[in-house]
Amino acid sequence: MRAALRRALPRRRHKRDDLFYPLFVPSSSSSASSSRWYSSSSDDSKTSTTTGDDDATDGFSIFPQELPSNARDPSKDDFINDATSPPRTREQQMEYSKHESLRDWLARQSRKRSVDEIVVLTGNIHRGSEILHNAVYNKGTGFNHSERERLGVRGLVPPRYFSIEQQAEKIWQQQVTMRESNAPKIARWRHLQALKDRNETLFYRLLREHVEELAPVIYTPTVGEACLNYSRFFRRARGMFFTKDDVGHMHSMTYNWRGDVKIVVVTDGSRVLGLGDLGAHGMGISIGKLDLYVAGGGFDPQEVLPVCLDVGTNNKSLLDDKWYFGLNSERLEGGDYYRVIDEFMRAIRHRWPNALIQFEDFQTKHALEILTNYRNDYLCFNDDIQGTAAVVLAGVYGALKVLGGKDRSEIRKQKFVMCGAGSAGMGIVSMLHKAVMKSGGLSEEEAYDNFYILDNNGLITNERELEFPREAAVEPFAKARKATKELPDGASLLDVVKKSKCTALLGASTVNGLFTEDVLRQMGEQNERPIIFPLSNPTSNAECTSEEAAKATDGRAIFSSGSPFEDAKGPVSGRLMRANQGNNLYVFPGLGLGAMLSGAKTISEEMLVASAKAIADMLTEDQIRRGCIFPLIKEIRNISARVAVRVIKQAAEEGQAKKSVVRIIESDDEHDTKLYKYVKRAQYVPEYRPTVFPVEESRKTVDDY
Ligand code: NAI
Repeated sequence: MRAALRRALPRRRHKRDDLFYPLFVPSSSSSASSSRWYSSSSDDSKTSTTTGDDDATDGFSIFPQELPSNARDPSKDDFINDATSPPRTREQQMEYSKHESLRDWLARQSRKRSVDEIVVLTGNIHRGSEILHNAVYNKGTGFNHSERERLGVRGLVPPRYFSIEQQAEKIWQQQVTMRESNAPKIARWRHLQALKDRNETLFYRLLREHVEELAPVIYTPTVGEACLNYSRFFRRARGMFFTKDDVGHMHSMTYNWRGDVKIVVVTDGSRVLGLGDLGAHGMGISIGKLDLYVAGGGFDPQEVLPVCLDVGTNNKSLLDDKWYFGLNSERLEGGDYYRVIDEFMRAIRHRWPNALIQFEDFQTKHALEILTNYRNDYLCFNDDIQGTAAVVLAGVYGALKVLGGKDRSEIRKQKFVMCGAGSAGMGIVSMLHKAVMKSGGLSEEEAYDNFYILDNNGLITNERELEFPREAAVEPFAKARKATKELPDGASLLDVVKKSKCTALLGASTVNGLFTEDVLRQMGEQNERPIIFPLSNPTSNAECTSEEAAKATDGRAIFSSGSPFEDAKGPVSGRLMRANQGNNLYVFPGLGLGAMLSGAKTISEEMLVASAKAIADMLTEDQIRRGCIFPLIKEIRNISARVAVRVIKQAAEEGQAKKSVVRIIESDDEHDTKLYKYVKRAQYVPEYRPTVFPVEESRKTVDDY
């Protein structure tokens, strides 16, 4: 046997500088076949590493046992050498741009091949069933013949080979059946979580392909229900918990997490989706959010870290629940609380200096302060405050298009009533106020006049006694809104709507039904196309439904909500009112991606505004005619790429972008073609990648065995 193998094998050792030696070699030596190794980085491409044929050899042969007769010496093969040779093919030459040094190009090619396109099995990963039980490497029936042989899974999976497309179709059919049989959303959530625990690649594939339908299942509103019962649903550890008992140890704890991290989503579980204090159950929200960063933005799932800071909970039912998996103690407050936050922030930066930290679902009284403390020194942002604000601004820019406005300066004509002076509400009005100044050309004082803010005590005016620091963001708006006889402090919503003659009604109050029929009717009476945005989540907290808005305005409203609703018809005219969803998903994945790729050190307000503009600019004429104020969510990968492009350009303008990116921008055309391509190429594509051993393993010849 050994002699036969020796005869079959070319006798040579591989060059020491070859980074990796492929376990599988293409059965055809044509460049076309070797290019199948490389998943196209284009999201639009359906290129796969597999043929999908029932022929389980899948175009690859086992090396060395089945070395094909036409195989070349792998050390001379294109896909080995193209990382260490100048660009040769036309495609490579086109890709190799003049501004880039040859050295950079070679380094990039080498990185691209080893990191993006090949799964390298290290010594830590064993063979056989361990591979099958590792959700990162598992392909289930998607292991081709060669892999089954070499990875020791032959016989451990059913005989027939299914491509990832086929597998995704099968799982999708199950989801459709659940939907059609009206299975509870939480059952669909569990079905998807089980898939993620088995096979992450397939999970993200499914999510990417059906993001519009699945985003509400893995994230809001369904994830809220999951978080309520998270201890009971808990099956598999994901992410990291840091507790108040970990103070002094957080730096070292971060080393328990293997691998690089590009993005961290962190919550303290104190205000999960408007459901209140859910303590350690907040982990569900960090995980769900990062799933959307992967599916929508193209972050690599191996480089994301969900975190829950367990600083206790004041939720009595959790504290009384014998299965609650968080700390059984009340929430930390004051200095002790901020010490936990501070140590956590330092630990993350120390371990992963370039990681973006996204704050999620912190209660208002801490959210603003945390953001203020870190936003100038850390690469961080708060999605509830800044992401929501950016998506609402994008919606307002979109609404201006639907209203037929000639450009963004028309924002100056809008009068906004905001119900809710919490972190979401104030984040939104602060950003709108800046937009009214910058795009609308009004002074700071003039711009305040465009805003009326209400909280649970009604209209907030200069007579209101505010609570600091909790309501610091309200102060300038309150000062500018002088109490009058007509509109005194505490005036009701209906009075404010009537007397302000507002054009836009926004809700971030968590109060279901706050936009009553009277209020909505009034909006419809004083505006041809009233802007109505009930933004509170989940659905049960929305200030009104799409049906109520359509009914009261006879389908004329420009509607956008935080949670999804169905389009609705005006009862008299039969006019179809589009139920837009002001989903933060439009902003955060692209913002994060842009920040990461630019190498920025902080996230500026202008980057958020740039994101909003990018989103509105993607609207097509047809969409505008139909009352859409956001592009289609199923285009989220491309939307995120466009958002990332604007964010990178903004970072460059601020002097925050790394040199290599600045060089691309400088050599680009007015459509940002190169930058867009750069971003698209960086996006993770969920598909099964060929598998190799590290070089130490592969350098062995037959004699070594
Ligand atoms: P919060 O609890 O900090 O603030 C709620 C605010 O609403 C408070 O100022 C409160 O006084 C006010 N309020 C209560 N009753 C009111 C009433 N009857 N009339 C007027 N105002 C009233 O909550 P936070 O963090 O600001 O979030 C608010 C809502 O926004 C939540 O439902 C949250 O889910 C939603 N949100 C939506 C996002 C989106 O993407 N659409 C993103 C982030 C938050």
